Amino acid sequence: MNTNEKQICSESESCREMDRKTREEIVHQLRRAYCDEWLAFIQYRTAAMVVKGLTRPESSAELLENADEELEHACKLGERILELCGEIPISPQEIIENCNCAFVAPTDPCGYRILCQSIASERCAIAVYRKMLAMVGDRDPVTSHLILEILEDEVEHEYEFRQIKEDVEATRAAWGLKETK
Ligand SMILES: [Fe+2]
Ligand SMILES: [Fe+2]
Repeated sequence: MNTNEKQICSESESCREMDRKTREEIVHQLRRAYCDEWLAFIQYRTAAMVVKGLTRPESSAELLENADEELEHACKLGERILELCGEIPISPQEIIENCNCAFVAPTDPCGYRILCQSIASERCAIAVYRKMLAMVGDRDPVTSHLILEILEDEVEHEYEFRQIKEDVEATRAAWGLKETK
């Protein structure tokens, strides 16, 4: 095998079919989203363990289920970065430094507060993926398809967290309780 053949074989199809500038721009966005997903996974997993209040079982189950999906998103984004000949962030430090959405530590275990924080996190993710989708467009249909798939999950997550939050508000109203936080 000559050098040229070796190079062609070592590069993936996705990597070869795109110009370098486009590929680097897409990889840059994918890396940032990859970091967001890892942080969301840690945030929800931790929140699921510390959450307190009347909705603890429901909130905890929802946080765990969504945490698993955030991890799946991270893995899918990681695979796409590698297919595009990019490098995935490999240390917690790199993940923190390259994220779009801030990590929200569940310092207050109040279920209502955690639900509000989770909704804000989902909204940040939705905004990021909408922007990415517009940026990638038909320049890379495979990445666009992946982003759309993840975006659908994030929209669902936001809705599910919001449903529980609204249940808390309805219960409070029915019992004549004031919002404390
Ligand atoms: Fe996600
Ligand atoms: Fe999510």
